[in-house]
Amino acid sequence: MNIGIIGSGAVAKSLGEGFLKHGHNVMLGSRDTSKLSDWAFNNAGANVGSFSDAATFGDVVVLAVKGTAALEAAGEAGADALDGKTVIDTTNPIAAGPPVNGVLKYFTSLDDSLMERLQARYPSAHFVKCFSSVGNTKMVNPKFADGKPTMFICGNDDDSKKTVTRILDQFGWDTLDCGKAEAARAIEPLAMLWCIPGFLYNEWGHAFKVLHA
Ligand SMILES: NC(=O)c1ccc[n+]([C@@H]2O[C@H](COP(=O)([O-])OP(=O)(O)OC[C@H]3O[C@@H](n4cnc5c(N)ncnc54)[C@H](OP(=O)(O)O)[C@@H]3O)[C@@H](O)[C@H]2O)c1
Repeated sequence: MNIGIIGSGAVAKSLGEGFLKHGHNVMLGSRDTSKLSDWAFNNAGANVGSFSDAATFGDVVVLAVKGTAALEAAGEAGADALDGKTVIDTTNPIAAGPPVNGVLKYFTSLDDSLMERLQARYPSAHFVKCFSSVGNTKMVNPKFADGKPTMFICGNDDDSKKTVTRILDQFGWDTLDCGKAEAARAIEPLAMLWCIPGFLYNEWGHAFKVLHA
């Protein structure tokens, strides 16, 4: 597949490398492509362009920008370029300001989520929450002594969730489909929980796993 990644940060780069490793074509998008020069040089076959270029390039699009800029960045990518496409939403609604005793602040409430705001603003795109509840270094084929970790996903379009589940199979994850977009109200705060051992104990190497009876 052609994968267009809107973003130039750690998540965009990690996922970009993962998609390349699994034989997909990749374009990363940034407002300033010069910041991706080294990355493109070190990753043969990778393309870089604007947010709009990446969204247009992708059969599947990944949104990997700062949460406070997500709505704006998707707009810069272009509603037409996202129309009818699966958009993997990695973002978290992290508010400005430092964590309190290791707990991040969010600009959403528990009756709302960033992905629902994105879905409402760009209704013809098929957003699927994914990769939001693990650190970027563990997103692609992570190795854990206790086996495969669990990725929590949600979204309104079943075919898009099937596409994302196939990607997660390639990337070495068990997938737990948590239902429609409203489930992002529960999935996005998992990143708050995931970050606590990092901020308190400088431990960033974990992932969540659901255990079944
Ligand atoms: N870091 C992780 O391990 C991790 C794990 C799970 C989920 N997440 C979530 O994934 C997302 C990406 O995280 P990240 O750490 O890779 O990078 P980040 O520093 O949160 O975001 C960097 C990206 O945000 C874009 N951006 C910043 N301000 C903008 C603005 N005003 N308008 C448009 N775009 C703007 C930048 O665009 P330019 O390229 O144009 O500068 C850049 O591509 C975040 O929502 C984060 O919460 C992160």
